[in-house]
Amino acid sequence: MNWTIKATLLASAVMIAAPAAYGDAAATYTAKCASCHGADGKGQTTMGKKQKAKDYTTAEGQKWTDEEGVKAILEGKAPMKGYKEKGITEADAKDLVKYIRAFKK
Ligand code: HEC
Repeated sequence: MNWTIKATLLASAVMIAAPAAYGDAAATYTAKCASCHGADGKGQTTMGKKQKAKDYTTAEGQKWTDEEGVKAILEGKAPMKGYKEKGITEADAKDLVKYIRAFKK
């Protein structure tokens, strides 16, 4: 068993043991999403600027429904690829949408 598989199994075990959804979303966001969308949700990273990621701190940047957000996370929305095959579930995607909504003041 290689390290990645062990780490994945460990992560799943932790998620089952402690379904603190919001905390997990924060960790997932930091690890997988912040490179483009920015730790602050503004999308002002090198990748985010190149790909024109929206500013999630504004009403304009949040002009998409929860359903669209979940779909984008799971199936992708060009140029972003989907995260379903990377192990993000629909429940995770819903939590991520909630997390992103919180960027808007
Ligand atoms: C490689 C850069 C990149 C990464 C990594 C990335 N995204 Fe995106 N994401 C984008 C871009 C660009 C869009 C499309 C913006 C548009 O045209 O609507 C987008 C769209 C979205 C949307 C749909 C709403 C919108 O802005 O149109 C959501 C929700 C979203 N991303 C969440 C996430 C989450 C959660 C992660 C981590 C699991 C993530 N993204 C990772 C670049 C990225």
